[in-house]
Amino acid sequence: MFLWQYLTPLLLIAAQICKVQTCDEFTDLNFGHAFIGTSISIRLLLYTRENGTCGTLLSHTNLSAHPQFKLSRPTTFAIHGYRPTGSPPVWVGNITELLLYRKDVNVIVVDWNHGAANVNYFKAVENTHKAAANLTAFIKRMQEHGASLSSIHLIGVSLGAHISGFVGANLNGAIGRITALDPAGPQFTGTAPEDRLDSKDAQFVDVLHTDIDALGFREPLGHIDFYANGGTDQPGCPKTIFSGGSYFKCDHQRSVLLYLESLNQTCASRAFPCSSYSEFLDGNCLNCDRFGAAGCPVFGYDITMWKDILLKLGHTKTYFTTTTKSPFCMSGYRVDVMIWNKDIRWGYITVKLHYKGTEAVATIDHKSLKFQKYTETRLFAQFDKDIPSVHKVSLKFSNGNVFKPKYKLRVLRIRLTHLERKERPLCRYDIVLEEKREVTFRPIPCEESNF
Ligand SMILES: *[C@@H]1O[C@H](CO)[C@@H](O)[C@H](O)[C@H]1NC(C)=O
Ligand SMILES: *[C@@H]1O[C@H](CO)[C@@H](O)[C@H](O)[C@H]1NC(C)=O
Ligand SMILES: *[C@@H]1O[C@H](CO)[C@@H](O)[C@H](O)[C@H]1NC(C)=O
Ligand SMILES: *[C@@H]1O[C@H](CO)[C@@H](O)[C@H](O)[C@H]1NC(C)=O
Ligand SMILES: *[C@@H]1O[C@H](CO)[C@@H](O)[C@H](O)[C@H]1NC(C)=O
Repeated sequence: MFLWQYLTPLLLIAAQICKVQTCDEFTDLNFGHAFIGTSISIRLLLYTRENGTCGTLLSHTNLSAHPQFKLSRPTTFAIHGYRPTGSPPVWVGNITELLLYRKDVNVIVVDWNHGAANVNYFKAVENTHKAAANLTAFIKRMQEHGASLSSIHLIGVSLGAHISGFVGANLNGAIGRITALDPAGPQFTGTAPEDRLDSKDAQFVDVLHTDIDALGFREPLGHIDFYANGGTDQPGCPKTIFSGGSYFKCDHQRSVLLYLESLNQTCASRAFPCSSYSEFLDGNCLNCDRFGAAGCPVFGYDITMWKDILLKLGHTKTYFTTTTKSPFCMSGYRVDVMIWNKDIRWGYITVKLHYKGTEAVATIDHKSLKFQKYTETRLFAQFDKDIPSVHKVSLKFSNGNVFKPKYKLRVLRIRLTHLERKERPLCRYDIVLEEKREVTFRPIPCEESNF
């Protein structure tokens, strides 16, 4: 009797604790579901700073049921895409954690796995309109409870990007921001703006393209469109179907990895407005004056820093390159080369920067470069890492033709200018580059005099 008096409340408390710890999870389906097809159902999972790893399934109708869903806070929705196998997206936990780390927001993971899991892609596409209508009704309810549309951010992956667009259009473009991560191409390419995402769907629309030749959308869709590595093939992804299952999705999925990295502030990828990827690689788009002191836009979550100027400039198409794996950022240099050979020389150049044991490499081989006597050839070198202080530089010249006699490139001057730290370019005067032989030297500060 005596013991029970104490035990009963303890058991009740224990039961309470257990109840508190039941988290609502993203729907886990299997290939069987995807094979028979699933009819749509939408679950909204809330995460906040108070409860960052434990999701709460929200009621679609009774918002008062969740005191932790504070509408005075901005709300960010994460909307996934097609789920051919029905498994939960691997990035849900990461994006939630990082969004909450960056800003005190409500993160709502939109789980429409029932509807997206279908071996038939066209069925999933059909469901995007239904998902959008459902989400629109929910956001209208949030608005009735005092939420402002401008504080809402929709992050949509693939088909989720078009869902975001439909929701935005339903709300007359009053949503604050839509971020589209490799918006889906198939069934959307060539359609009218109302049948896909477009820049009128939110006050600000930022888009990343990583797979424009397969699963992604080729044309620009937002106020700013980023084309990572030109938007077609991502470095480190399998080039042929024989490399395994990830061949189909690696490029497409890279968009999420790049965005997560920007949220995690691992490093910054400066993106350059340009008419085409080849113009960008040629180094013809390195001028960032129109953006003032901020410089060219940095890809990712913090692009809102450039919002005002981008809205003024209109649609801006930008390019940046990445490495094969995290950290994905590259470090860019402008390289000016002047030769004194009598004849024109064509070829490729590899530059290495050394600092103690570290080495950064840039290969400029997207096309054969032309070098002409006393004329400055401008190259754009992108290194796989940033070297804070360059002790030595190596250069290698090749013309890629095994039959021609070996050339020498007689360099009168080479100048390397870091794109972020322009004030102290590095130079070297009078070096001879024998074909395919690496030459290493110590760079010196450039002289002001002209040639
Ligand atoms: C949205 O979907 C959920 C679950 O699928 C459903 O309970 C809710 O009634 C739907 N809302 C609207 C407005 O259709
Ligand atoms: C966290 O979420 C769970 C699941 O909805 C809920 O039971 C719990 O009360 C929440 N905890 C806090 C501190 O809000
Ligand atoms: C909404 O939820 C609150 C809190 O759980 C509850 O008191 C109320 O009766 C619910 N309202 C409706 C219409 O279900
Ligand atoms: C953020 O980056 C750090 C280090 O680069 C990594 O250890 C961590 O797992 C990342 N966080 C998330 C949530 O991805
Ligand atoms: C996701 O987060 C986990 C745990 O922090 C981390 O180990 C993993 O590397 C992260 N993945 C990515 C792609 O950032």
